[in-house]
Amino acid sequence: LVLLICISLSFVVQSKTVRETKHGPRPFPEGFLFGTSTASYQVEGGWNAEGKSENIWDYLTHNNPCIVRDCSNGDIANDSYNQYKRDVEMMRELGLDFYRFSLSWTRILPTSFPDKINEAGIQYYNNLIDEMLKYNIEPMVTLYHWDLPQKLQEMGGWTNPHVVDWFADYARIAFEHFGDRVKYWITMNEPREVCYQGYGAATMAPAISISGFAEYLCAKNLLVAHAKAYHIYDKEFRQKYGGVVGISISAGWIEPETEKDTQAAFESSQFEWGQYAHPIFSETGDFPPVMKERIAAKSAKQGFFRSRLPEFTPEEVELVRGSSDFFGLNHYSTNIVYRDETAEDYNAGPSYYDDIGTTGYQPEDWPTAASPWLKKVPWGFYKLLTAIRTQYNNPNVIITENGYSTSVGDGYEDNDRVEYYKDYLDAMLDAIDEGSNVTAYTAWSLMDNFEWMAGYTELFGLYEVDYNSPQRTRTPRKSAFVYKEIIRSRQLDY
Ligand code: NOJ
Repeated sequence: LVLLICISLSFVVQSKTVRETKHGPRPFPEGFLFGTSTASYQVEGGWNAEGKSENIWDYLTHNNPCIVRDCSNGDIANDSYNQYKRDVEMMRELGLDFYRFSLSWTRILPTSFPDKINEAGIQYYNNLIDEMLKYNIEPMVTLYHWDLPQKLQEMGGWTNPHVVDWFADYARIAFEHFGDRVKYWITMNEPREVCYQGYGAATMAPAISISGFAEYLCAKNLLVAHAKAYHIYDKEFRQKYGGVVGISISAGWIEPETEKDTQAAFESSQFEWGQYAHPIFSETGDFPPVMKERIAAKSAKQGFFRSRLPEFTPEEVELVRGSSDFFGLNHYSTNIVYRDETAEDYNAGPSYYDDIGTTGYQPEDWPTAASPWLKKVPWGFYKLLTAIRTQYNNPNVIITENGYSTSVGDGYEDNDRVEYYKDYLDAMLDAIDEGSNVTAYTAWSLMDNFEWMAGYTELFGLYEVDYNSPQRTRTPRKSAFVYKEIIRSRQLDY
């Protein structure tokens, strides 16, 4: 026994040394999968090609030509609508196990509803999927990555409870047409950004700012819509096709400024990502208790007759609870927070940050990407994965996004991106070593693309895209070669 203890202790000491000095190689678990990700509006172009109708990003950018930093839009983007074979060639070059992309709702259903199915749209995704499968690259399909039909937005979008049925009908069409070949489904990408940025802060389409109200209506409807789609797959398709369905939640790590801010940091995380994770992954099927309490108390103080946070009915609770086969995690960075009961958002009335009652910031000296919010903090990734493991009974986690942006003209020697990927993968392996059930990793992004309000000024690609060439020529950066080698060797070599 003594000998055994000595041997295992020496292992602990050894692995600690290995980690601290960053000498590899460090293997990934058996069966671990690697992919990259993109999204329809960010890469496809063909905004009105062959029957596609307008979505909220088409509408926003066309009607406010300079709302995006470089006055650009996704009309052509990377022209993946025509260049998809080159995209698949890049996936092969990298040796990917899977590729995550999203479907454009209005390309498939131009009226928003299943009364008319656009065959050209179905054909485009069939071509892409079949081309990938030819080379054993597994498709991972996101149903909703932010491009809501404009017509549905005109009827309130995600704040109208009927969106639950609209989304469910669209999801069924997607399962029917692609379910024979697609085994990984993600219903929603980053609900927090859809709801808070879309309907609270107005920093994303549809750019509505009714903070303190609209983002909560959106959250509830989006969660129920997700759950309904999940159950449609479960009941009507799972037996036949045997796939899995999950949701991709954006979560940064929230670090308390001092020990006395520990509770404040936890509460902030319950608003920022617990809002979406708790209803699905906890036993309650409901919003986190702290959200319910704080918003009800604030609402009463502000003279509202009822809480600004809508309630789930008992049936909805049943529907939402457990409605995910995996925890899709989009993670990029970390914030430090402290308790600040005067924290307000954009107006003096009710607001989301007023409800949370904390203020966050990032120290200036943390290494920063081209995106100002993106600081490299690998230990935050480790802490977040640990929190997900302990809070939600160690779910299967698929990292559905992680990555780093550079600026135009930064060139192919993207050493900062390489370091970011290595450090974050290392932190992920630390969490896996301690028992986190992370089974796949997705780099954002396969190639540069339209970075929403930042247009083409913040570039996330393993491949650089030349926006001056008609074909949007794609060229690998150093990070593409490094990622390829990680995938080939199945280990992280420092
Ligand atoms: C999250 C989003 O899902 C994606 O669309 C975006 O481009 C990346 N993060 C980078 O900001």
